[in-house]
Amino acid sequence: KTNEDMRYDEQCSVTSEQEFDRSNIRLKSLLGEGNFGQVWKAEADNLSGHFGATRIVAVKTIRKFSPQSSLKEEADIMRKLGSHQNVVTLLGVCLEIEPHMLIMEYAMRGRLLSLLRAARSAVNILPASVPGGRSSTPLSPRTLGGFALDIACGMEYIAEKRIVHRDLAARNVLLDHNGVCKICDFGMSIDLEGECKQQEVDLKSANKIISSNTKRKLDFGSRFIINHWNNNFNTNQIPTKDAIEKRTHSHDHSHGHAHDSINRRPALPIRWMAPEALQYHIFTHETDVWAFGIVLWEISTLGSTPYANLTGREVIRRVPNGLRPELPKESRLEFYNLMTRCWHKDSHLRPSFSYARQEISRSLHKWDEDDS
Ligand code: ADE
Repeated sequence: KTNEDMRYDEQCSVTSEQEFDRSNIRLKSLLGEGNFGQVWKAEADNLSGHFGATRIVAVKTIRKFSPQSSLKEEADIMRKLGSHQNVVTLLGVCLEIEPHMLIMEYAMRGRLLSLLRAARSAVNILPASVPGGRSSTPLSPRTLGGFALDIACGMEYIAEKRIVHRDLAARNVLLDHNGVCKICDFGMSIDLEGECKQQEVDLKSANKIISSNTKRKLDFGSRFIINHWNNNFNTNQIPTKDAIEKRTHSHDHSHGHAHDSINRRPALPIRWMAPEALQYHIFTHETDVWAFGIVLWEISTLGSTPYANLTGREVIRRVPNGLRPELPKESRLEFYNLMTRCWHKDSHLRPSFSYARQEISRSLHKWDEDDS
């Protein structure tokens, strides 16, 4: 760790609308390609509050004519979140001219999903005593539990801020140089406070169109959400299962994120979605809790794909009928219970992030005591 990094440990998140001068950014290497843009490792000089210093950062850019044409909403969400140790911090924005850029803290160890998968070979193949027998460090249950706790802390904070992430998955969790998990990718996120007024208007028009029975299912007061980036999914047109299937179809190939092959819209993360999200396109803190349960499952299985033997179409049909991911044989019982409760059909009976965080924390303390 350099002195520079130490100085930056005191995170300086972006709170104002202030534009960062892009001539101070030098893109170095491509870290990944997302839905409609790229993430680069870069150097940035003179970030807010750090004049005269250079910092390694991650820069998200967006393609000019992508349907998500701006990173403004994502920047707004990240600004609202500010600085928390389990959430990727926004350090600067370039939004006045294209290509838009978000400057974020750089998480050195990359994506949790990759780390989990890399640890598989370390566990499975040859013992450590054989030279070259281990390609990477195996992850102990305690380390895996620490990841779960970090993510629960981050999500508890995000929910407190009234943000629904909508794309929580191990692929959207990064690890920093200390192995601390940081939640990232707020491209699909929604601010419930900002949405409230719009929701009231939507609900009035929805009254005329949908049956009272459906409405009862939709109406969670201010918490109900209907997707707004997808024009086919507004309240005037409650999506049919068919419509969702069409939209999510292309997901099958990647088992993660993909595009709608014709419309070039981002597809939905169906394997991480709760029944009410799959059926009615409702997204709430409770649907994030469902996704958190899937993340616990991803951690327990070292990065397996949920319902790997099923097509997206089958997942959409069967999860609302009670299908759940197969519980891993080697998982600690505490997480077993917790993930199962995160997948309660009735969203109100799922634990809160705060409860989940406390329960994970209790388990870890107990393991630590048993070990000493
Ligand atoms: N990939 C995507 N975002 C990243 C970040 N902030 N740090 C490192 N790798 C990333």
